[in-house]
Amino acid sequence: LAKVELELGNIPEGKNVIIKWRGKPVFIRHRTADEIQEARSEDWKKLRDPESDEDRAKRPEWLVMLGICTHLGCVPIGESGDYGGWFCPCHGSHYDISGRIRKGPAPLNLEVPEYEFNDAEGKLIV
Ligand code: FES
Repeated sequence: LAKVELELGNIPEGKNVIIKWRGKPVFIRHRTADEIQEARSEDWKKLRDPESDEDRAKRPEWLVMLGICTHLGCVPIGESGDYGGWFCPCHGSHYDISGRIRKGPAPLNLEVPEYEFNDAEGKLIV
């Protein structure tokens, strides 16, 4: 499998970065303490696609997801929508700061790909 490496030290808190992995956009967000708290305090069992933030983000400050709307595959826009996360303009799906679907036609949360951290080099490997 082709891997992509990204230096995490260049991404300030509260910023999104998009990289390409096998032709697909991957969203990486360096979440703030407030965002982590919001993502983790949500009553996730009541959500459309119930997933805890702990299961989605191995390290709470780093959220890594495929940037492909689970409705029909558009690329959602960061820092927008009604839930402080991503918004898909194609048909109006709103994702929260954990990338979980909250409103609109998308059936599932934004997918979390396989990834790992290389702490010695301060890198994310997708
Ligand atoms: Fe995103 Fe339809 S493709 S809402």
